[in-house]
Amino acid sequence: MNILIIGQGGREHTLAWKLKQSKKVDHIYCAPGNAGTLEAAENFDIQVDDFEKIGFLVQEKNIDLTVVGPEAPLVSGIVDYFKENGLVNQGHQIFGPEKSAAIIEGSKVFAKQLMKKYNIPTAEGESFKEVNKAMEYIELNDWRSHHLVIKADGLAAGKGVIICHNIEEMREAIQKIMVDKEFGSAGEKVVIEEKLEGEEASILALTDGKTIKLLASSQDHKAIFNGDKGPNTGGMGAYAPACIITPKMEKQIYKEILLPTIQGLSSEKIFYQGCLYAGLMITQEGPKVLEFNCRFGDPETQAVLTLLQNDLVDLLMACLSGRLDKEEIKNKTGAACCVVMVSKGYPGKYEKGKEIFGLDKIKGMKNIQVFHAGTKKENGKIITSGGRVLGVTAYAHNIKEAIFKAYQGVDKIKWSGEYHRKDIGRRALKNK
Ligand code: AMP
Ligand code: GLY
Repeated sequence: MNILIIGQGGREHTLAWKLKQSKKVDHIYCAPGNAGTLEAAENFDIQVDDFEKIGFLVQEKNIDLTVVGPEAPLVSGIVDYFKENGLVNQGHQIFGPEKSAAIIEGSKVFAKQLMKKYNIPTAEGESFKEVNKAMEYIELNDWRSHHLVIKADGLAAGKGVIICHNIEEMREAIQKIMVDKEFGSAGEKVVIEEKLEGEEASILALTDGKTIKLLASSQDHKAIFNGDKGPNTGGMGAYAPACIITPKMEKQIYKEILLPTIQGLSSEKIFYQGCLYAGLMITQEGPKVLEFNCRFGDPETQAVLTLLQNDLVDLLMACLSGRLDKEEIKNKTGAACCVVMVSKGYPGKYEKGKEIFGLDKIKGMKNIQVFHAGTKKENGKIITSGGRVLGVTAYAHNIKEAIFKAYQGVDKIKWSGEYHRKDIGRRALKNK
């Protein structure tokens, strides 16, 4: 079969790498892809929101299955486009939720209301569409005992969440989001909620709309600097499984969070098919939802799919045919660790166009894979073209070894201005 992967990050390179291992796959294509996806696929310079061109490509290359990486095309309805334009009926299937279901990531107000209605554990909070009501609410809040988090409603490239520690910061956050519209139309509404304390973890689950199967748990590292300091990024590294999530807690997350979410959506006449990613805070009172995402996580996918033993084609097709109940997820024992290497300046304005050296030194190393993100090939050289550039990902029989090995790989790769965190996975060692 022929597969098309939409996107250009480390997650998409990982999907291409994993799908290529399936005996059922003939060709893989990526739109637009990066220098790394070229190892497994043919790239087409088509942007993720150009549904029409994607539709033509799917027909021209006889694509059986399209897998969507990022949230933006899902939230703006790429799956609906495939259905409404007869592509799905012609046998060009697409993996991911429709627009009506992707709203679980596209609108934090929607997600919050859903969680409230179906008693899904999350931070206490309220949604507002009027500035003065939002201001009134924060003035009434006892911020000395309750720190607040203020979130722009729509997609804001992971930046629309402001954690506030005093009343001035709260007022400023509302001003920035709702009045100055720093995140554009995402600031039409806000969610204001209590700040949760604990450790964060990610659960990526596959669902056909009825059955839900959990992939390995994982932990991302969002802040730019060691020790979780500095501004948030798209993710500076991940490891799996997350030691903080015990098998018992995994069952609890399934029963109290994932199942009621899929069933709740279903009661609202919303059918969710695809990957549902729950971003969780593991609090003293148990796991609570920080956010839902309608797609695979990045860089969690790099670690999670490294552990997955199943043929990913089988799992994705089972989701599409409503037969996920027939599949059993099998993970390797041991652990995987992904260290993300970024460009100087990231997550702010960053440098581009630097030649990357040392990638060839990793090729012979066992159980280590470099997943590309912001890279491109020019005149036979691989150069940086984004903020997050590479995710060096290692597998080993335990987390300590996996971390060690990933950093062995990182040490071999160089470019001018390269930066990475030195403490990816350290929390896992602490939790041992
Ligand atoms: P979100 O996009 O909602 O996941 O928020 C991005 C990041 O902000 C999360 O990964 C957390 O680190 C942080 N965050 C969001 N909501 C809360 C909350 N209620 N309490 C503490 N931290 C939060
Ligand atoms: N790892 C964060 C995200 O994928 O949104």
